[in-house]
Amino acid sequence: MNEAIRLCRELAEFSEEAGKTTRTFLSAPMKDVHRLLGDRLRAAGMKVWIDAIGNLRAVRGDARRLIVASHLDTVPDAGAFDGVLGVVLGVLMAEALAGQPHKLGLEVIGFSEEEGVRFGVPFLGSRAVVGTLQPTSAMLQAIRHFGLDPAQLPEVRLAPGAIGYLEFHIEQGPVLDSLDLPLAVVDSIVGQTRMEMLFLGTANHAGTTPMLARKDALACAAEWILEVEKEGRSQSGLVATVGQIENTPNASNAIPGQVRVSLDVRDACDQVREAAVEKLIAGAYRIAPTRGLAVNVSRRATQSTVRMDPALSDVLASSGMHRMSSGAGHDAMIVAPHVPATMLFVRSPGGVSHSPKESVHEADVEAAFGVGLQFFKDLEKQLV
Ligand code: HGY
Ligand code: MN
Ligand code: MN
Repeated sequence: MNEAIRLCRELAEFSEEAGKTTRTFLSAPMKDVHRLLGDRLRAAGMKVWIDAIGNLRAVRGDARRLIVASHLDTVPDAGAFDGVLGVVLGVLMAEALAGQPHKLGLEVIGFSEEEGVRFGVPFLGSRAVVGTLQPTSAMLQAIRHFGLDPAQLPEVRLAPGAIGYLEFHIEQGPVLDSLDLPLAVVDSIVGQTRMEMLFLGTANHAGTTPMLARKDALACAAEWILEVEKEGRSQSGLVATVGQIENTPNASNAIPGQVRVSLDVRDACDQVREAAVEKLIAGAYRIAPTRGLAVNVSRRATQSTVRMDPALSDVLASSGMHRMSSGAGHDAMIVAPHVPATMLFVRSPGGVSHSPKESVHEADVEAAFGVGLQFFKDLEKQLV
């Protein structure tokens, strides 16, 4: 088996849940990942440390360097490759380039939090390295609990001098599989808005409360969730998702008194995305009173669509390589305004991701690794 795939599957065992891959921000299994990958990077001659936001950091050589990075956290019950493949290929690049003098330096980063599962806010690790993180008290508490020192957060910033950022990542969608292509260079990453809606009704007895006397928070949320789906279907390219729901008191014989749901809206055009978000907020404020409820709306994250660096992407793309945009968010979109960034997608068989069924083809991973090494060498040739 390809070493990258073997290593990804080994890392997938480091989980908060037996029999599944769940590894959220600063969870205990992250220390096992840090140890295993840190040892490999140290053996490849890299200076290795864990920074104050829990990113795995490794550097070698000149400040004029290529950064190869992705994230080490996962969604609940994840696959073995989302994020991790990009870090593992960085580790294997460090090993392949070890022992020879290089004009171009190398930095490998395993970001601690891209998915946003623990605190509903994504990209904590990459935001910290570019200096745009606003940590909440809960995040600072998690940092201390993991054994890190929040006072060191300013030291997390990238050192100056990076000439490029490369993120290998599985496509997580059906495009390359449908075109029967192994790889693609990413031109842009669509923007996203993440929100939380809290529907406030009245918990009551399911047997004694007449239907017309109810303030049922779950029925209200359900009516609104169908509007989310309808809005997402209203124009091509727009997607709108309610992925998380928390029902209180969540008992079969109790009328739901309070329901918290997530909202995730994405589109390549920021204006289209924002218009859809405003429409769905208005929908919640319209529906709730018709059922005697209130609703609280809170924005968790807003990220505009980001273009990758065209010149860097041209170096990465060997002639004729497919180019595409990414519907999934990536740390590259956080880094791109600060360091020229590019991404290399690896085919997702069946377009499956955020699922234990996530997979990759060995030949595609081998090809991606070869493209990454060639990219490093081509960039090095450009250094005067
Ligand atoms: O949600 C996303 O787009 C990414 O997989 N975190
Ligand atoms: Mn993901
Ligand atoms: Mn990812």
